[in-house]
Amino acid sequence: MGQSVINASDTFAIGGDLPVRRLGFGAMRITGPGIWGDPGDPAEAKRVLARLPELEVGFVDTADSYGPFVSEDLIREVLHPYGDTVVATKGGLTRHGPDVWKPVGRPEYLRQCVLMSLRRLGVERIDLWQLHRIDPKVPRDEQFEAIKAMRDEGLIRHVGLSQVSVEELEAARAVLPIATVQNLYHLARRDAEDVLQHCEAHGIGFIPWVPLAAGSLAHPGGLLDQVASKLAASQAQVALAWLLRKSPVMLPIPGTGQVAHLEENVAATALRLDDEDAAALDAAGAAAWEGEQASRH
Ligand SMILES: NC(=O)c1ccc[n+]([C@@H]2O[C@H](COP(=O)([O-])OP(=O)(O)OC[C@H]3O[C@@H](n4cnc5c(N)ncnc54)[C@H](OP(=O)(O)O)[C@@H]3O)[C@@H](O)[C@H]2O)c1
Repeated sequence: MGQSVINASDTFAIGGDLPVRRLGFGAMRITGPGIWGDPGDPAEAKRVLARLPELEVGFVDTADSYGPFVSEDLIREVLHPYGDTVVATKGGLTRHGPDVWKPVGRPEYLRQCVLMSLRRLGVERIDLWQLHRIDPKVPRDEQFEAIKAMRDEGLIRHVGLSQVSVEELEAARAVLPIATVQNLYHLARRDAEDVLQHCEAHGIGFIPWVPLAAGSLAHPGGLLDQVASKLAASQAQVALAWLLRKSPVMLPIPGTGQVAHLEENVAATALRLDDEDAAALDAAGAAAWEGEQASRH
């Protein structure tokens, strides 16, 4: 076991009973270009996975569609039987080629996704299974009911949603308990702020995807760069530190296929932004996002 790098108080209990340290790992990048096929450097991808428990990263996010299957298969190969590591996966997106993602939410397909992920991961119950997208072609309650049935059967411990509005989240919560939401969110991408607030109010984990991005804030000499220089950190680390500080339900899952980047990202948990820098970054990120939207209209 490596040196403890994560503050033990920085945990979130998924569904109230599955505590994870708040910096997880996104396992989408251990696949090929376009999230299709094998990674360019499979040995390095395996080293990344093997390093996770050593760095006390106990929350791994994947999906059946990453590869497809490549990410889940590698996780099984390197991390099974998992120990304290919580593996979250997703289903409900089909793949027709690189960068092509098509939702299918028919109940029998969602069931197939869960059953096949159970087999690939080599578990009897999935800790956290997330509906990758609500399929607009299928009544959403049919999708929620199908997932509820699998939860009731014990195939899934906790259920998450991905890329949803507050209205969709409430509609799902009327059918079954929702433990997490995974939406696009970072310093300079703030349209899910209302979803984050809803999650905070209801003890739901919020998993921001593409957490390292900082849009137009990430330029040499900019505020992010200045704060990073002051703290002797990288811009990616400051972007993560801002997320971790933003909310106690925030569960960032930075993704990488390189051990050096993994180590850098985990080290961001030790970074402490002061009130002034956090507020300045918060305001600059929100302004950048508003400016981007205004320029689109
Ligand atoms: N629910 C959804 O619809 C959805 C969509 C997209 C992603 N996700 C999840 O969210 C996770 C994170 O998203 P993401 O991987 O797209 O974005 P990300 O974590 O913000 O960024 C990953 C990219 O940044 C690079 N990187 C990682 N650490 C770095 C560092 N310290 N310095 C410089 N570059 C670094 C990676 O390349 P290297 O490999 O070269 O390090 C990769 O290209 C995914 O792994 C996946 O689990 C979910």
